[in-house]
Amino acid sequence: MANGPVVTAPNAPEQLASLLKDINGHSAAFSNGDANSRLKLVAAAQSLLQAMETPQETILRYIWAQPATFAAIETCIDLNIFALISWNGRSKSVADLAKATGVEPEILGRLLKHLGAVGVITETGYDEYRGTRFSSTLAMPRYSDTFPCITGSTLPAILAIPTWLKENNYRSPTEGTNSPFNVGFQTNSHFFEYLQTNNPRYPSLPAQFNSLMSTYHHGRPSWTDEGFYPVQERLIHGAKTAHNDAVFLVDVGGNKGHDLERFYARYPSAPGRLILQDRPAVLAEFSSSHDDKPFEPMVHDFFTPQPVRGARAYFLHSVLHDWNDELCVSILRNLAASMTRGYSRLLIYENVIPDTGAHWQATSLDIVMMADVAAKERTERQWIWTVPSCVDGLIECELA
Ligand SMILES: C[S@@+](CC[C@H](N)C(=O)[O-])C[C@H]1O[C@@H](n2cnc3c(N)ncnc32)[C@H](O)[C@@H]1O
Repeated sequence: MANGPVVTAPNAPEQLASLLKDINGHSAAFSNGDANSRLKLVAAAQSLLQAMETPQETILRYIWAQPATFAAIETCIDLNIFALISWNGRSKSVADLAKATGVEPEILGRLLKHLGAVGVITETGYDEYRGTRFSSTLAMPRYSDTFPCITGSTLPAILAIPTWLKENNYRSPTEGTNSPFNVGFQTNSHFFEYLQTNNPRYPSLPAQFNSLMSTYHHGRPSWTDEGFYPVQERLIHGAKTAHNDAVFLVDVGGNKGHDLERFYARYPSAPGRLILQDRPAVLAEFSSSHDDKPFEPMVHDFFTPQPVRGARAYFLHSVLHDWNDELCVSILRNLAASMTRGYSRLLIYENVIPDTGAHWQATSLDIVMMADVAAKERTERQWIWTVPSCVDGLIECELA
């Protein structure tokens, strides 16, 4: 009884008036076309939810609703449900969806009822649903891949964090083969080795990981956007144009080349070649069909000497956050040895954790890095160019 009023009273009702005022202000700005006010509106709405929820409700949201939602979404992705219910079309009944997918109506009805209750889809009547913009996004393979990818490569590692930390004296993991990942997945392999092993339960894991890499950045400001990093002044101006072989940009650990495609779309006439480097399995599909790509694929292990010498720029995007400090030094040494003094630049494009007010996208990825690869997101002290409300920063380096 003594705990009753504390756990069942709102978390911070005294904030209600000022949060509503903020929400009204940001809503008005958004309606007037101020795109930046959307994120402020979302942050204020989240604060309102936290202020008015009771501690008890918050507990149940974390321990029941969120894991149940993840599992229901992943199952519906597997059954292709989100492609069957559109967000701007007619509602579909559970009976129709069960018939179309060949599954038991009862189990499907239970999963959809939860997804309706949390707003992933819209309940339009008894056992009837319509999609949302979010659920329709989950009908696109590049986005739907992200859920089974996280189950097959990350969730067991995250859940192993408390045990790993308890058993290791509450220190940050620093070895990629002695991490929560190794406990959670009961493997001695490093995350990147494990990705390539044929996992009968997750045969599509490597492709799903690549989908996650190609989409996680969508909608964020890009380093090539106006006002982020002065590409024209710092890279294009002064780049070698005298011979066709000159390499302009090498994307080291660039996965499927989504960053180079974005760069090319923005700067199609930048002088010199664009080169994509990654592990053999990631680049395998390019061996016969890269002619329509704006870049040249090149298998390269970044723990070995960099074969492309004297490029205008070497680009590392979300690479160093996968490795401990010692291995980052090895990656950087291999790059430094190939850079031309006074000409080549190294661009490190990473999450940047500020001293205060870090964004949850950066802090959660820091925990994922801790779990999966015994590494981390690094802090603001190292960053140079970024824009407000963006979790990424770009660090430019030259040989001294
Ligand atoms: C976190 S992903 C980042 C991918 C991409 N740069 C991006 O930001 O979307 C790290 C990439 O490093 C690649 N990688 C891992 N180990 C590597 C190695 N030893 N040599 C080259 N690439 C490697 C992975 O295959 C993966 O594509």
